[in-house]
Amino acid sequence: MAIILGIESSCDETSAAICINGEIRSNVIANQLVHQHYGGVVPELASRAHQQNIIPTIQEAISNAKISKNEVDAVAFTRGPGLLGSLLVGTSFAKAFALAKNIPLIEVNHMQAHILAHFIDDPKPAFPFLCLTVSGGHTQIVLVKGYFDMEIVGETLDDAAGEAFDKTAKILGLPYPGGPLIDKYAQEGNPLAFTFPEPQIPGLNYSFSGLKTSILYFLKEQTKQNPHFVEQHLADICASVQHRIITILLGKLKRAAQEYAIKDIAIAGGVSANSGLRKALQELADSQDWKVYIPKFEYCTDNAAMIAMAGYHKFLKQDFVGQDIAPLARMSF
Ligand code: KG4
Ligand code: ZN
Repeated sequence: MAIILGIESSCDETSAAICINGEIRSNVIANQLVHQHYGGVVPELASRAHQQNIIPTIQEAISNAKISKNEVDAVAFTRGPGLLGSLLVGTSFAKAFALAKNIPLIEVNHMQAHILAHFIDDPKPAFPFLCLTVSGGHTQIVLVKGYFDMEIVGETLDDAAGEAFDKTAKILGLPYPGGPLIDKYAQEGNPLAFTFPEPQIPGLNYSFSGLKTSILYFLKEQTKQNPHFVEQHLADICASVQHRIITILLGKLKRAAQEYAIKDIAIAGGVSANSGLRKALQELADSQDWKVYIPKFEYCTDNAAMIAMAGYHKFLKQDFVGQDIAPLARMSF
């Protein structure tokens, strides 16, 4: 019997989850709406909100799982990567809880946990598989050989895919986070209405900063001729930008699948909630004869269920850390 408490606090979501013998029994997420007015996450406000949210979130996760806090066998927490002030809140709470209850402490890499979210529900992928991890801070193609045996085979050289969505939204005057709103407007628009350039980056790496610049110049030019261009064409702009981001992401993923001769393909991270990406990946999978793994929406964006699941697999290996552990804003694997 193993009961793991998972804690996530790397960015602007405070989350706690309970995993019992590899099964997620609760997953509570407290969103921070305060950042909407600022066009991005304000680190100081995020850590203060984590401090307010963490105890009620953990209490709710424990009560939803119908256990007592005394039954928890280990605490898993996000050590990094993320905002240091935010990570400190989850890390400090995890350390204090482990010390008070005299139970082991487990560090989790947030990006690995996004991938391990695939082991929450069936069907679970078999090793090796390729995972396109697309979030607000990262864009990686990862060769997953085991639960903690992962190799980044391609990644962004500048902006992440989530940033491309969020920065485009900001240019269009939409609130943060803009990704879900672009997704929503894109559903009503024509993805071929406007053409944005595809970056020419060798190998399996990505670049998204040029796309942002080209959107900025395109809109500047259009609004010079028609000041109402954005409001009149919002759906088409969103659909066209989203279409380009998707073709960039899937182009390299297809290449990676060919290079590594792997047909088991997964997506993870906040951007994997994008309905256009999910649909396009499914279509590509059908044409390439891939077996694809697309997480449930609640396990795409930041959540502690994935942290608890990663923690469970480390618990099985007795992979624990001491009280001297500190969070890391940058953390590789
Ligand atoms: O994984 P995540 O929740 O946090 C990080 O680890 O960064 O990812 C957040 C990112 C944000 O950039 C957000 O705009 C994007 O995921 N996102 C989306 C959608 N839902 C979240 N992007 C496009 N379409 C969506 N439906
Ligand atoms: Zn994330």
